[in-house]
This record gives sequence, structure tokens and C-alpha cells, in this order.
Amino acid sequence: MAEETQVKEFELTEDSELRFEVGDEDVVLELVKGCAEVFGTDLQENKKYAFPPYTRVAVYTWKEAVVELVGPAESAYVAKHTPMVIYLNTHAAMEQVRQHRETKDSLSKGPRLMLVGPTDVGKSTVGRILCNYAVRQGRTPVYVDLDVGQGSISIPGTIGATLIQKTADVVEGFEREHPLVYNFGYATPSANISLYETLVKELADTVTRQVSENDEARIGGMIINTCGWVTGEGYSCLSMAASAFEVDVIVVLDHERLYNDLSRDLPPFVKLLHQPKSGGVETRSKESRVLARAASIHRYFYGTRSHHLFPFTFDIQVSDVILCKIGTEKIPESCLPFGVEPENHETKVVDMSLAPDLVHHLFALSPCTEIGPAVTKASVMGFILVTAVNMETSSMTVLCPQNVLPTKVLVYMDLTHVDDQVQR
Ligand SMILES: Nc1ncnc2c1ncn2[C@@H]1O[C@H](COP(=O)(O)OP(=O)(O)O)[C@@H](O)[C@H]1O
Ligand SMILES: [Mg+2]
Repeated sequence: MAEETQVKEFELTEDSELRFEVGDEDVVLELVKGCAEVFGTDLQENKKYAFPPYTRVAVYTWKEAVVELVGPAESAYVAKHTPMVIYLNTHAAMEQVRQHRETKDSLSKGPRLMLVGPTDVGKSTVGRILCNYAVRQGRTPVYVDLDVGQGSISIPGTIGATLIQKTADVVEGFEREHPLVYNFGYATPSANISLYETLVKELADTVTRQVSENDEARIGGMIINTCGWVTGEGYSCLSMAASAFEVDVIVVLDHERLYNDLSRDLPPFVKLLHQPKSGGVETRSKESRVLARAASIHRYFYGTRSHHLFPFTFDIQVSDVILCKIGTEKIPESCLPFGVEPENHETKVVDMSLAPDLVHHLFALSPCTEIGPAVTKASVMGFILVTAVNMETSSMTVLCPQNVLPTKVLVYMDLTHVDDQVQR
């Protein structure tokens, strides 16, 4: 006998939210009556939104709403206490700054807000909410993601920025079209701090230059998401990023000590806010983080349910390309000729040869034509995944969004992914 479909209806009153987690099977959400939003995107009445496994969702209403869930949602409950009013006030303050600066000269820029805090406090979610509210207000902010572990602009191991012109899709988040992406190669900044800092500065300079040529983007301001690494060198990375992006406001979610440390160390012109995390955000396990990274790489090659992509698989001869990596062993100063300054080995680009253990590694596609310092700082054109290595023929099989490689220079990433060839 077929299992009965589970349908559950929830009545939401003003300023409350329905929280749920999707288990192994899809859960379909429908707004039956009233108004409600998911992380800042309005729901359409009677439209069915199918959430894939392992997503956590909050359906919030400023007024009242009746919503229905179809499927085995785990731990679905209505919460009456949420920090949404606080987040809305943050948006309102940003909008005031935009309106004020818009009337000034043509060089003034919109507010730049950075979200900081440990992992699982809702940084990415608040970033999404603030971008959505800005778009609903007719603005086009730039979303910057400096989180190399769980970023939402491209694959893990990268940082990037994208202009937000449309609200996020309720299920799939923001569109990922034409972002500006830099390849770091690791899932944590600690793997190569020097490279991470170089890339953050490069991203900040490029975005600042690009928005200065587009009035709407310039006034839209920036919403900058960061990694959850907030102690020791992670803390220094945050301060460095704040100064590179010349942020006006830093919102610390949850972490009191981080707030105290920043209030001691930040220059006085940076406004610091301490805000609570939502009770709906739960700590994710290490495994679920790994799964989220794999899902993000899968999405890069295969797209989403509503926007399928069809990647190509082909062989490349290693003699036709240039394999390289960023970062190398330090040369002892005693080995250097007299008077020669040591190069920064952490950001140095060196060539690589084919090896069996390159299988499952990702490579970034660099617009450069040869190995040199420019490779480190250049934004990338995309990524390929090595699915097989053949040492005898000196070739490798790759998964690539296009049917030909758009460049010869392929930059090694420490990140790996096993292509399961399944359309999710
Ligand atoms: N109010 C909420 N109710 C339920 N789940 C939420 C809520 N806000 C965020 N989440 C979920 O919690 C998880 C962690 O949030 P996220 O914004 O990714 O945190 P961080 O970026 O700080 O690591 C995500 O799966 C997100 O969808
Ligand atoms: Mg995040």
C-alpha cells in the first residue's frame, strides 16, 4: 500500500515564522492565503515550491498567512520570536544612507556592510535577506562572498562578487550568472593566508572599480559575507577585509567576544552592530558541510532542477595545456644568491606535471596565457574537474561546462569532487 502523503497546514500570525527541515525526500511548500516570504523573497499564492533534501527553511510573515507543507518535513514548528525586525531595521538604515549619498556628488558610494560571526549563525541568510530587501526597494547591491568554505557565488575554494538585480529564487537562491570569481583553491583561508589576503584585496579593488562605472551599483552598496573563522589569524583576515572593502558597517552575529574585540580594534568611522542570531539556525555537522560543498560543485556543472546544465566530458593532452599551482615550498634564504630578495613563496605560481593523484581535483581556468605572477591575481573564467588521469598517454579526462577549453592555463585546486554523473 502506498504511504499516505503527509499534508500539514500552519497558520502564521504577524511577525512569526514556520521553520522546517527537509529530510530524505522533497517537501512542497504552498502559500494558501496571506503574505509570507522565505529569506526575503515573497511567496506567490498557490504556487508550489519543492525544497530538495537537507534544506532548512523559514517562512516568515509580517502580517498573517496560511501555509501548507506536503511531504515528510522534519521538526516543523512555528516560532513567534525572530530577529526579522532587527534585520529589517538594518535594511532601513542602509536605505537611508543610499538616499542620503545619492543626493551628494556622483562619486559617493552606497553603504558597505560586512557580516561576521562564527559558522552557523545565519550570516549567509542575513546577507540574502538584506540583498532581497534592497532589490525589492529598487536597488542593485553587490553581494560579495569571502567564505571559501560555504560561499554561494561559485564553487567552494573561491571568493567572488555579483550584482544582485533580482530577488533570490525561493528554492535555489540567487542566480549565479557572470559573477566575478577568484580562485583560492582551499576550503579554509588558513591553508594559505597570504594568498587569501592577496585575493581579497584584488577582489575589493576590482569590484570598487567596476561599481564606480555603474551609478546604480555604486549607490546600491555592498553586502559582504565572511568565513566563520573568527579567532587568531581568522580575526586578522576579517580586519583586513573590512579595510580592503572600506566598510561602513560591520554586523556581528551572536559572538560577544568578537564584538568586543572589534569594538576595541576598529577605527571609529566603522559602525559596529551586535545582533542576535535566529533561533532557527542550527549547527550543522561536519558531514553536512562536506555535503553542501559537493552540492555546490555539482550545481556548478549540472545546474539546478529548474535550470539544467549539460557539461561536456573530453580528453586533453597535457602537452596542449599548462598545468600550474599557486604556492610552493619556501626556499631557504641561504640558497639564494647574495642580494636577491626572497619571493613570497605562498603566492608564487609554479608549473606542475601530470600525476595519478590529480584525479578528482578541480582546476580553475585562468585567462592568462603563460605562467607568471598575473595568474595569482587574475579572476577566473570557470572550472574543470579531472575525472580520470592516463599516465601512459599523458592525458586526462575532464568535465567542463563547455565543449572546448577556453584557455591553456589550468590552475590546480586542492579541492576534490567525485563526479557522480547524476542529475539531482
Ligand atoms: N530562521 C531560520 N529558521 C530555520 N533555518 C534557518 C533560519 N535562518 C537560517 N536557517 C538555516 O540555517 C542554516 C545556516 O545558516 P547560514 O546562513 O548558512 O549560516 P552561516 O552563514 O552563518 O554559516 C542554513 O541551512 C539556513 O537555511
Ligand atoms: Mg555562510
